Amino acid sequence: MPEADYSKKEKNFYTDIPAEKGSFFLKGLNHYDWGMKNRMSSIFNPESGRTVMLAFDHGYFQGPTTGLERIDVSILPLLPYADTLMLTRGILRSIIPPTYQNGLVIRSSGGPSVLKELSNEQIAMDIEEAIRLNAAAMAVQVFIGGEYETQSIHNMTRLIDAGNKYGIATLGVTAVGKDLGKDAKYIRLASRILAELGVTYVKTYYTEKDFDTITAGCPVPIVIAGGKKMPELDALTMAYNAVQQGASGVDMGRNIFQSDAPIAMIKTVREVVHNDLKPNEAYDMYQELKNS
Ligand code: 5RP
Repeated sequence: MPEADYSKKEKNFYTDIPAEKGSFFLKGLNHYDWGMKNRMSSIFNPESGRTVMLAFDHGYFQGPTTGLERIDVSILPLLPYADTLMLTRGILRSIIPPTYQNGLVIRSSGGPSVLKELSNEQIAMDIEEAIRLNAAAMAVQVFIGGEYETQSIHNMTRLIDAGNKYGIATLGVTAVGKDLGKDAKYIRLASRILAELGVTYVKTYYTEKDFDTITAGCPVPIVIAGGKKMPELDALTMAYNAVQQGASGVDMGRNIFQSDAPIAMIKTVREVVHNDLKPNEAYDMYQELKNS
């Protein structure tokens, strides 16, 4: 995926120089108002500066995803271990107890299902509903390089405008798709565009190569999606490598709720994200919890 940047000079992301955060604990958000900072503090742990978001919004385009057939059965037991929930308003109202106290990141774009052209999304929730549901952030899918790129960016900027008015954050999600890239060059481009256009934070994918240039080049926090289910050690290694290279946490779904031992897995992911537990030790911890 080419970038229209024809300079012959090599790019320098100064990955060895951490970004100045100011008095607020999250990168790039120091100049927001109190309400926005308070909501972001309900998503990210102010002590570690990181988050374990539990993602189970997959049904918004693919229906009863494996592991999410009965969210009341499979996901409710995981709630105490998540820093925040990434979900749809339908599941929030129907299943999540209103006594839940942590941050809520509510899926706010949608439209086409897996049966259609996925990138043709529109805004799927208005700001009054986000306020009514006490959302900390609205999540919007953005298809950089896709057929509906401009429309998805427009969805995002409309949500940012509405969210900024009331201090509700916007999570820009860089989409994956058959025509979209997945290497560092693409993710760098997509994440930076989302940040430049005003998202409060970005969700994107981990890349094996040069991930530190993606986080360095993005002026706001990045969390990584877990992606397809993989062996637990691989998922824990990916989470570890991502936070070591500047990610502010994970937004993990299938690698938790499709795990053989979801509670053991989310507890272990927490140790990796918040306490820098190394992958092999983390895997031992997972096995121990699983067998106990
Ligand atoms: C689904 C999403 C998910 O929230 C995101 O992909 C994280 O889940 P997973 O770890 O299963 O990839 O955006 O549309």
